[in-house]
Amino acid sequence: LDNGVGRTPPMGWNSWNTFGCNINESLIRGVADAMVSNGMRDAGYQYVVVDDCWMNPNRDSAGNLQGDPTRFPSGMKALGDYLHARGLKFGIYQAPLDKTCAQYFNSYPGATGAQGHEAQDARQFAAWGVDYLKYDWCSPSGSINDQVTTFAKMRDALAATGRPILYSINSNSIHAKTGPQRNWGDVANIWRTTEDISAAWDTGQTNGYPMGVKNIVDVTVPLAGYARPGAFNDPDMMEVGRAGLNETEQRSHFALWAIMASPLIAGNDVRSQSTTTRDILTNPRLIAINQDTLGLQGSQVSFDGTRRVLAKRLASGDVAVALFNQGGSTTTITTTAAAIGKSGSSFTLLDAWSGATSSSTGTISASVPAHGTAVFRVSGGGTNPTPTGSTLVSAASGR
Ligand code: GLA
Repeated sequence: LDNGVGRTPPMGWNSWNTFGCNINESLIRGVADAMVSNGMRDAGYQYVVVDDCWMNPNRDSAGNLQGDPTRFPSGMKALGDYLHARGLKFGIYQAPLDKTCAQYFNSYPGATGAQGHEAQDARQFAAWGVDYLKYDWCSPSGSINDQVTTFAKMRDALAATGRPILYSINSNSIHAKTGPQRNWGDVANIWRTTEDISAAWDTGQTNGYPMGVKNIVDVTVPLAGYARPGAFNDPDMMEVGRAGLNETEQRSHFALWAIMASPLIAGNDVRSQSTTTRDILTNPRLIAINQDTLGLQGSQVSFDGTRRVLAKRLASGDVAVALFNQGGSTTTITTTAAAIGKSGSSFTLLDAWSGATSSSTGTISASVPAHGTAVFRVSGGGTNPTPTGSTLVSAASGR
């Protein structure tokens, strides 16, 4: 969506994965303070997104949304002010129909949706200083055309406020969840590609709740051609730093989200995270790959059912390569400079995890542990023509 924001994938934090409906203003403020003091803000994590359950289920007498008076007694504008004063941005959650998704997931009854109040809610968000709206379908019914009309209505309402607001949508409640079913780049800045993530590697399904990290990768890789500045596939908020994934899997998760040009929205409790988690989330080499201004999603170079190679062309002419071992034991994964679209015979490989460099005449190879991902930034060699959004996709996977 060409609304001036989200030219690179948004980075931030969201309350849902760890806290669900158990949120309040002191939690959100504490998270913001931690993001400042632990270096996440300065590493690029900007948006603090308050997910479902912030709302008073009843609108005021003029039909305006209001924060839950017990959980957010200072009001939502005050929370936005608090975030802005710390150099952060304010994200909030709403649903387009009658109720939010809390109706399904919690004893919390589900707050009021925006149906019939789209312009009013957009104006309210702008008045509160909201910079990011997560807009979540939350209904078992409605056709894809209903969704397009309804999501576009809020897109236009946000634009009419004059405030730049990143627009995040989730269309995936009503259909087979094996992808977004259309390229939503004309409607939103980011759009979910699957059902909800969980802190699991493989839930054995690609179309149901909940999803594992590997399952989401399987669904999202083929969608590489949709990504461009202002418009990115959203494979959901991260589970890095949450119990359920081992350290190798957490590193893989982050590396794959980075190279897929996915939003990097942390979902852990950043107030109490380990230094290992912090170091994964703030790896500057992987963040640079993710935030590259070309806005390309890494696309598939090869996949044999176990060894998956993804490549992402970068603005400098470098190419980032991920060697992802989906199998259960250590294996060597190999590709070549030619296969990732580089010409020449003399290259430098920067290992995104260790920061070490090595030289290569064209072979790119690593021994990768089970569920692990090695990432190299390949520089040197010939300068290829400026790629379009789909150059590597069509060359690599025949899409
Ligand atoms: C849906 C979304 C989640 C979260 C919950 C909140 O399940 O996909 O990311 O926002 O709703 O109820």
